[in-house]
Amino acid sequence: MSTPSFSLVNNANGEKIDLPAVGGTLGPVGLDVGKVYDKAGVFTYDPGFSSTCSTKSAITYIDGDAGVLLYRGYPVAQLAEHCSFIEVAYLILNGELPNAAELEAFDQSIRKHTMINESLKGFFSGFRYDAHPMAMLTGVVGSLSAFYHDTTNNKDPRHREIFAHRMIAKIPTIAAAAYKRHVGQPFMYPQNHLDYCSNLLHMMFAVPAEPYHVNPVAAKALDILFILHADHEQNASTSTVRMAGSTGTNPYAAIAAGIAALWGPSHGGANEAVLNMLDEIGDVKHVQGFMDKVKDKQSGVRLMGFGHRVYKNFDPRATIIREQCHKVLKALNVNDPQLELAMKLEEIALNDDYFKARKLYPNVDFYSGIIYKALGIPVNMFTPMFAIARTVGWVAHWAEMISDPAMRIARPRQVYTGAPERSVSPLAQR
Ligand code: ACO
Repeated sequence: MSTPSFSLVNNANGEKIDLPAVGGTLGPVGLDVGKVYDKAGVFTYDPGFSSTCSTKSAITYIDGDAGVLLYRGYPVAQLAEHCSFIEVAYLILNGELPNAAELEAFDQSIRKHTMINESLKGFFSGFRYDAHPMAMLTGVVGSLSAFYHDTTNNKDPRHREIFAHRMIAKIPTIAAAAYKRHVGQPFMYPQNHLDYCSNLLHMMFAVPAEPYHVNPVAAKALDILFILHADHEQNASTSTVRMAGSTGTNPYAAIAAGIAALWGPSHGGANEAVLNMLDEIGDVKHVQGFMDKVKDKQSGVRLMGFGHRVYKNFDPRATIIREQCHKVLKALNVNDPQLELAMKLEEIALNDDYFKARKLYPNVDFYSGIIYKALGIPVNMFTPMFAIARTVGWVAHWAEMISDPAMRIARPRQVYTGAPERSVSPLAQR
């Protein structure tokens, strides 16, 4: 197929500006509009970035219409079936699946970095007992920049690697410490003989007073959820990490910015919002009334866990999670009426013209909360769980950007709508 060619024509003087096509391996080409301002004195305008590529990237590919999600070329469903989260983390960071020796070395390095500086632990007691764990996560991850400043040469690949391993290893410890602060229990040190997800469950649910045995069903379910959440190309939080990172800031600070962006209910906060919504609906008999409210634009109510900026067909992650949800509840012998409620909502929505016309399908968060709940994870820890998994993507995107010699500070422009230039009158004359 020939490369498409585009140009802009200035209707006032007939001047033509060529927009070179920037091609990748899959998906639509991007049009290079970088010279439009220089040549025509106009900006391009795309609030919400629906048609705008902020970068080239070799990490993740999404075809939202076909429901395709690939990490480094591999379909996410195959990765969830055949690989562990740590294996997928290696893939996302390094571009290739590891062989046995590479996996062993990577896994050992992550296990070695799970502890946090003792004085960092003290930060948690500075938060009120009812602080949201995402608030603690944002603050404490940002403060890692004050502890690990031995590897801040962003241009040194070894420094970037140490940062990546530290960040991926410490984020479960920090999330578990936030949970322990919230429930008023003592901090549990990581147990490095445990795998990544078992260690997290241990740090969250063990107490020093008695032995704790990790349920392998719970650890496996978490591992699959983490694989599905590990990366999602230029989503809001990843774009935030890239934008912050483009200034050359400390990488831990850039990750903290991503965590802050993830917290919102339109993004990672949706899993928490889904469970709150199911609580509010309460019973299957209220479902129809709730759906009427969702369709009434005046109400401002949305069906949380439905719709996606990119997936206008189905979210491939949601299909896997739906299946997992049923499996996990059965294996753990959990009979959750909220699952019945969620299925009723899904059934109504999938057959309703409002949702069909707008191509609104369940997203990854519609079912993930029900699994987390079955694992005993409280609602306000759902988004921190997402943050743990997405840390892999954030770190990989930051490293990809920083190692690109063509990297420039991200600095969008605007269409100014404020007052035209005017003169200041002294206070006495106003
Ligand atoms: N419930 C009801 N209506 C919806 C929903 C929803 N969940 N999502 C979109 N719509 C409607 C909008 O009202 C709009 O209708 P209109 O054309 O009549 O005005 C239309 O569908 C398009 O919606 P937009 O807001 O323009 O879609 P956008 O791509 O900007 O938003 C988003 C995507 C934020 C995910 C949205 O679908 C939403 O708010 N969903 C609920 C929150 C959620 O589940 N977020 C998780 C996303 S996945 C993730 O981050 C892991």
